Amino acid sequence: MIERPDDRTPDTVLSALTHDALSARQAADLLGVNERTIRRAIAHGRLRATKRSGVFRIDKQELDRYRPAPFMSRSVSERLSHPLTLLPKAPAQPPYHVPRPLTPLIGREREVHAIGDLLTGDNVPLVTLVGPGGIGKTRLAIDVAAHVRDAFADGVWFVDLSPLRDHRLVSATICQAIGIREVVGRPATDRLRDFLEQQQVLLLLDNFEQVVSAAPDIAAVLAACPGLTMLVTSRVPLRLSVERQYPVPPLPVPAPAEIHDLD
Ligand SMILES: Nc1ncnc2c1ncn2[C@@H]1O[C@H](COP(=O)(O)OP(=O)(O)OP(=O)(O)O)[C@@H](O)[C@H]1O
Ligand SMILES: [Mg+2]
Repeated sequence: MIERPDDRTPDTVLSALTHDALSARQAADLLGVNERTIRRAIAHGRLRATKRSGVFRIDKQELDRYRPAPFMSRSVSERLSHPLTLLPKAPAQPPYHVPRPLTPLIGREREVHAIGDLLTGDNVPLVTLVGPGGIGKTRLAIDVAAHVRDAFADGVWFVDLSPLRDHRLVSATICQAIGIREVVGRPATDRLRDFLEQQQVLLLLDNFEQVVSAAPDIAAVLAACPGLTMLVTSRVPLRLSVERQYPVPPLPVPAPAEIHDLD
């Protein structure tokens, strides 16, 4: 039984203290901040959380490390005069199979946050970055993945579809990238569904344009897997009802003074 840490501690907070993982609401109550602050911290990777059936679950240890604002220099435990966690355990790191960029990202901060918010929100299972070749779709997708990785408890995978010409091989290529084993007589789309239906995963599907006829397969997998989110790069949209198209704008041309600074 947990002792009342502070006479002013509300009952919602006390009930939160008795659970191992907290909802965004409980975490917000515990810290005395707005729930949106917690959701934003998760979306921006400052607070780790998992998502089950559309509900965030925040490990108490993670919450105890998080400082919502610079003026909050003390941890939650310190402020409540009560340890949030009695048995510290090392959190397992989910798989993250995304190429590492070798150069810094230039001028896409606004896009990274906007796309990250879409992917970690509740209603958008599929975002397609659309634009002509060379505009920076793949590069942007990679940086968005790094930005939101903590919102996907079961991992993030990048799947390069550029070598494919046959749209019927898309599901098999995704299975191969994730490491889902073959089962005789079981189609790849079914194996993908079997594996992902309980998972909180982000899939990056890169260069979808030449296999766009596989879009209905993608829709079927998304419909069967509520915790699955996809970020697709393509020169053309997939034209699915669940899709949110995000046209990638050209990078702004630097002003002459900025070009001079680069010399
Ligand atoms: N914002 C950026 N900062 C730094 N490098 C970038 C940026 N955007 C693009 N690049 C670089 O420009 C090149 C082209 O970008 P990218 O491969 O992402 O284009 P793309 O839109 O995916 O093209 P395609 O349709 O041919 O796949 C890459 O070398 C990439 O690393
Ligand atoms: Mg690309």
